Amino acid sequence: MDRLDLDVIGADLEASWLWQDIVYRHRVESTNDLAKELGTDGALEGTVVVAEEQTAGRGRLGRRWLSPYGTSLLCSMLFRPALQPIQAHRLTMLCSMAAADAIEEVTDLSVQIKWPNDLIVGSAGPHREPRRWHKVAGILTESGLTNGHLDFVVVGIGVNVNVLPGEVAELSPRATSLLTETGSELDRSDLLLRMLRKVETRYAPLKRGENPHREWSQRLATLGQEVHVDQSGGSLVGVAEGVDPNGALLLRTREGSLERILAADVTLTRR
Ligand code: BTN
Repeated sequence: MDRLDLDVIGADLEASWLWQDIVYRHRVESTNDLAKELGTDGALEGTVVVAEEQTAGRGRLGRRWLSPYGTSLLCSMLFRPALQPIQAHRLTMLCSMAAADAIEEVTDLSVQIKWPNDLIVGSAGPHREPRRWHKVAGILTESGLTNGHLDFVVVGIGVNVNVLPGEVAELSPRATSLLTETGSELDRSDLLLRMLRKVETRYAPLKRGENPHREWSQRLATLGQEVHVDQSGGSLVGVAEGVDPNGALLLRTREGSLERILAADVTLTRR
């Protein structure tokens, strides 16, 4: 099993204007927690935390994020954007597109985004039969606020890279890995580097005030589909009509009202 190659990654990012420091751990409770600690302690924008394994990896909505040692990309990036707290989802949009592009560059997979933050693949099966979508990566974005102002944003991404086909179902019923989808092991350091370079390229326009939500919405598998939305107040069924500039999902319910969904679990009713 390969380890992430810090020498290669560090050397490649030497000329980067964004990436400052790569913090590597074999094992950590959660790369997001460590990145948030560093952010609170004043670490520079462009600090990245990577690990081979997390003992308390977290997903959205209080879920656990599991991945066997040395098989995945477990990475948290620290940003200090000049944004309002409500705009922090722009970083999620940017990083999800960067990660999807990086995966598409090293595989022949077509990667889509399932609102708000899942990277999914839904390719044909071995005999070209239609296949249900499966999740290859997830993103957890967390903000640090001081007096109501955005101090930092941590975007944590977990990509199931070399998780064995027999192990993916143990992560979650709809999980898959790049190894499972392509049949080949991938170089995780190369994938990480490509992703970080793409995040850097996309971050420059965001810093100038551009909002990536239009491009992001075009990559959403969710739009135009009938979806189930489970949120704390109950569940809704409707057609995902669009997203607003802050990334909220605009859902046309069966009763005809337009609901703005900020945080929820969305299931595509299409298989
Ligand atoms: C989700 O799909 O619900 C989001 C999963 C995010 C997992 C990543 S792995 C790296 C970072 N550290 C964490 O504890 N979570 C994120």
